[in-house]
Amino acid sequence: MSYAIAVLLSGSGSNLQALIDAQHEGNLGHTQICLVVSDQAEAYGLQRALVHQIPSAYLPLRHTRQREQRRAMRAAWEQRLATLVQTFTPDLVILAGFMRILSPLFLEQFPERVINQHPALLPDDGGASYTTSSGLCIPTLRGAHVVSDALAQQLPVTGCTIHRVTPRVDDGPVLARTEVPILPHDNVETLHERIKLEERRMIVEVVNQLSQW
Ligand code: GRF
Repeated sequence: MSYAIAVLLSGSGSNLQALIDAQHEGNLGHTQICLVVSDQAEAYGLQRALVHQIPSAYLPLRHTRQREQRRAMRAAWEQRLATLVQTFTPDLVILAGFMRILSPLFLEQFPERVINQHPALLPDDGGASYTTSSGLCIPTLRGAHVVSDALAQQLPVTGCTIHRVTPRVDDGPVLARTEVPILPHDNVETLHERIKLEERRMIVEVVNQLSQW
């Protein structure tokens, strides 16, 4: 029986590509990528899905200035997204660079089945600090700018985490984590690329682990 994964993304989709490559190389067991969804029309990840004939969809979140309307539009968008994803009955939903926060409205429809890639180190206890393998205590970085935050805070080390998604942003049970040293001449691009190298390896490992349970 195959294990179906849906991938939600907003950008380049190099992690999606890592999964596609692993599948083609026979390193993803019986896992099939059943769906790719992006909230951004120009996300290169959509092109990757098209090239490999993976069902894909662009589901934009429209903006409005009116607060009440905004809430209703967002809820409607999340429900549309959930309905679309449900159609493909995935065993796992991967947020692979998906730049939207999903509320319980979505999460409750996929209990224990949504995981997120975060390009920084998240602790097991959901706290404000993380203790590295060498015993150094560094602040937990959450949010959309954690690679630049790691540089701005002059941390010697950062990394990446894959965790189950809960309603608390960038929190939830950790499935995998890797530390990445920050080098003296790193900028956001060089550091993020080194982090992504680890993320691509980890996502394949985590999918293989989860699919075998
Ligand atoms: C990754 O660094 C992931 O942790 C973050 O967005 C990036 C996605 O990269 N949430 P890509 O689109 O898979 O290349």
